Amino acid sequence: MEQVRHLIGPEDLNQKEMEELFRLADSILMHPERYMDVCKGKIMASLFFEPSTRTRLSFEAAMLRLGGQVMGFSEPHGSSASKGESLQDTIRTVACYADLAILRHPKEGAAKLAKEASPWMPVVNAGDGGHLHPTQTLTDLMTIRHLKKSLKDMTVVLCGDLMFGRTIHSLAKALSTYEGMKLILVSPKELKMPSYVIEELPPGSYVEVASLEEALPLADVLYMTRVQKERFLNEKEYERLKDVYVLTKEKLQWAKKELIIMHPLPRLQEISVAVDEDPRAAYFQQAKLGMYIRMALILKLLKMEDER
Ligand code: NCD
Repeated sequence: MEQVRHLIGPEDLNQKEMEELFRLADSILMHPERYMDVCKGKIMASLFFEPSTRTRLSFEAAMLRLGGQVMGFSEPHGSSASKGESLQDTIRTVACYADLAILRHPKEGAAKLAKEASPWMPVVNAGDGGHLHPTQTLTDLMTIRHLKKSLKDMTVVLCGDLMFGRTIHSLAKALSTYEGMKLILVSPKELKMPSYVIEELPPGSYVEVASLEEALPLADVLYMTRVQKERFLNEKEYERLKDVYVLTKEKLQWAKKELIIMHPLPRLQEISVAVDEDPRAAYFQQAKLGMYIRMALILKLLKMEDER
């Protein structure tokens, strides 16, 4: 039997497969009409145990635009998890009805558990606690590739909550596999990148600093993140750290003209609204590209990427 592919962490796709996905996403972007009914008769389960706007809606829009159908829930109260059902049992049940499942869960490692309970239905990790978020990474890489026309020899500044930001963990791992990528990790000392991510970065490929002003002039890509309130145990600590980095129009005077500014969104105060009108602001475009790369991913996991 052919093996089922899941996407739990960025390492589940090699660089060649990611490039194939980017090309497929480009083709869908250019000729959406060709893909309108490729997934007719297929069902995607959207299992969101944690809030989401972009990830859930872009996945659902992706499946609908491919002609497939979507079912699921957008909060844990909408499922038997609220009665105490285990995640494994939920997944085994969903696998009786759906061809593919997208899972967001507050617990680190939940997606891996789900994959193990799902021998025939592909499972996609749409964020597991403060751990990983590989489809945001596909979105992020596609955005860089789309706007910079390359995925090598760049300085990428990752700024904000590097401790709990799951998008950052997946992105740093993936970026470090590309040639000539230098990472500048900007965070307060309380929110530094966890050691399990740092250990996977090649020595010399990153530096850790505390000042955004110091890093900004060097950046080809600036990736801002929200301080992840929901992962803090202490509210006072969150209040103290939430506004350490705020990107303003004034600060951008020191940045390169060709910089792109990214953010997985939702944005709180870390990027001032006035920055939105700067041509370097790419975060809403990033959110849009996320739908196309998810369309490509759905086709790949359903083994339908050669259908058009
Ligand atoms: C991120 C997430 O949920 O991890 N958002 C997203 O998926 N686009 C980032 C965040 O919530 O700050």
